[in-house]
Amino acid sequence: MNEIIISSLSEELMDETVKFISSFQSVDENFVAWLGYSPEEIRSQLGAETQPFKERCLIAVDRGVVCGFLGIHLSEEHSIARLLGPYVSLQKNWSDIALDLLKALKAKIPAHFSLVKVAFYAANVNCKQLYATNHFALYNAEKTLMLNSKGFTNSQKVINKQINFRSYQPTDYDKFIQIHPTAAYFTGAEVISRLNQYHRLVVAELDNCIIGYVYFEMLLSDGFAEICFLNVSPEFRNRSIGSLLMSEAVNEAFKLNWINHIEISVRVNNEGAERLYLRTGFKEKNVVIALQRDLNLFPWGDFT
Ligand SMILES: CC(C)(COP(=O)(O)OP(=O)(O)OC[C@H]1O[C@@H](n2cnc3c(N)ncnc32)[C@H](O)[C@@H]1OP(=O)(O)O)[C@@H](O)C(=O)NCCC(=O)NCCS
Repeated sequence: MNEIIISSLSEELMDETVKFISSFQSVDENFVAWLGYSPEEIRSQLGAETQPFKERCLIAVDRGVVCGFLGIHLSEEHSIARLLGPYVSLQKNWSDIALDLLKALKAKIPAHFSLVKVAFYAANVNCKQLYATNHFALYNAEKTLMLNSKGFTNSQKVINKQINFRSYQPTDYDKFIQIHPTAAYFTGAEVISRLNQYHRLVVAELDNCIIGYVYFEMLLSDGFAEICFLNVSPEFRNRSIGSLLMSEAVNEAFKLNWINHIEISVRVNNEGAERLYLRTGFKEKNVVIALQRDLNLFPWGDFT
C-alpha cells in the first residue's frame, strides 16, 4: 500500500484513466452510474466539464499505473455532490484504496453542501459494502430497461390529430420549465443547455400549451440512446400521450444506424411508467441502487 499515491487527475494520465474507467463500466459487478461506457464517451464527459471538476477527480497510482479513480460532480443548484466511483483494480486492496480516495475528497466538497449521492448496479458488492458501512442510506432503486434495434419495427402510431408532437423551440422555454419537475437529475435549464444534434427534446403541444415531453440523448461513441425524461402533465395522463412521446423518441433514435439499443431507467415503484415501457417492447436489464449520505448528520471525514 505504501507506494500508492492519490492525486488529482492530470491531463498526462487522462487517456490511461478513461480506458481504466471504461474497463469497469461494462461489467455489472463494477458499474457505477453517471459516467459512460466507452473511453471516448468518458473522455468527452470529463473533458466537457470545467478545470475545477478535473481537480475534483482523484486517481490512485501504483508504481506509475492508475489503479483507482473517484470523481465528484457538484450540483450547485441543489447543493448535492455526486460521486463517480470508486473504481479500483487491485481486488486485494480494494477497500483500503477506495477509503483513501473517499477521505481525499474532504477538501473538495464545499462546506454548504448537505448531501452526497452515489448510484451503482445492485451487483456491485464492493461499492455496496463500502457505502453501507459509511453512513450512506438507500433512497432510490431504479430498473434499467432496454430495447434492442434488432427486430424492432417502427411502432404503430395512434393518430391524435389535436396534439402536435414536434421538436422543442426556444419559445417553449417558459412552458417547458413549468412542467419539468424541480427535483429531476437535470434541471429544466440544464436540459435546454444540453440540447444539440444528438440530445433531443420532443414536446407534445395542445392549444399552444406544452402538455408533455420526452428528452433523450444519443451517445455516439457508446452506440446507444438513453431516454432521460418522459413526462406528461397530470391532467392529460391516460390518453396515450406518454406512449406517443415514447414512440417519437424510439423511432427517432432508431433512424440512426449506429444506435444498437435504447435504455431507460424507472423507479421500482413507478409501475405505470414501467408498464408503458414493457408495452413499447423494453425488457428489464438491471437494477441501479442509489444511496445518499446526509452531511449534517455525518460530516465528511468520519469513515470506517
Ligand atoms: C408515465 C407517464 C409519462 C405516462 O404518461 P401517459 O400519457 O399517462 O401514458 P399513456 O396514456 O400512454 O399510458 C398510461 C395508461 O393509460 C392507458 N390509456 C391510454 N389511452 C387511454 C384511453 N384513451 N382510455 C383509457 N386508458 C388509456 C394506458 O393503457 C395506460 O394504462 P396502464 O397504466 O394500465 O398500463 C405519466 O404518468 C407521467 O408523466 N408520470 C410522471 C413522470 C414519470 O413518472 N415519468 C416516467 C419516469 S421513468
